[in-house]
Amino acid sequence: MGKKKIILLGPPGAGKGTQAKRLVEKTGLLHLSTGDILRDEVARGTDLGKQAKEYMDRGDLVPDDLIIGMIRGRIEGADGFILDGFPRTVAQAEALEKITPIDLVINIDLSREEVIRRLSSRRVCRGCGRIYNLISNPPKVEGRCDACGGELYQRDDDRPEVIENRYDVYTASTAPLIEFYKERGLLTQVDGKASPEEIFSRIMSLITG
Ligand code: AP5
Repeated sequence: MGKKKIILLGPPGAGKGTQAKRLVEKTGLLHLSTGDILRDEVARGTDLGKQAKEYMDRGDLVPDDLIIGMIRGRIEGADGFILDGFPRTVAQAEALEKITPIDLVINIDLSREEVIRRLSSRRVCRGCGRIYNLISNPPKVEGRCDACGGELYQRDDDRPEVIENRYDVYTASTAPLIEFYKERGLLTQVDGKASPEEIFSRIMSLITG
């Protein structure tokens, strides 16, 4: 399989991170998650992290110039990747077009109700970043990661009032990218209500097809 350049689109909680981690294991492609990169910047207390934190805590988007500046070098240096959480605005998508062509855009669709249900019950491993769900995918031992034994935590922006704002921000700023990539003939829709396994095999068939 040639190295592909893939975007995973979709509302918060659609399963982009869950699928990206599996796809990376299977394909060896580079995983570029702007959310993960930003959370790392916040944890390390960098200037960028300090600037980004106030937006992230509210569930608002971090300004385009900060995001594009942060991701540009990583994209330029890669011959194949899975973008997870970027682009998030038309301005980001236009900037990306100028950096490199994209092979495939996969939109994982999910309703507002399901987003709120899933994110309220999400837990993430502090050690390895593995994603759990207390309802659909709980750890074997409460509060501990099955893979590395690390502590599971709830993201600051997975509080109910922040989740609602994140969904509204998605509708206003990110959903227009569906039309943007449809017009360019790059978009495929995937039903986010299906099981993680079903979604994974659907995406794999798109990548290898
Ligand atoms: P980011 O980290 O990108 O968050 P997000 O897009 O809101 O996406 P999530 O990580 O919440 O969800 P996901 O789709 O990855 O779902 P997951 O696989 O975890 O961004 C955070 C913040 O950073 C933003 O609010 C913004 O402030 C800033 N930011 C980041 N990028 C930016 C950008 N480009 N521009 C500006 N600002 C930016 O799954 C969710 C849950 O569902 C889990 O519990 C999982 O176990 C479960 N689950 C997954 N799939 C299934 C399934 N098929 N069935 C049942 N349960 C499932």
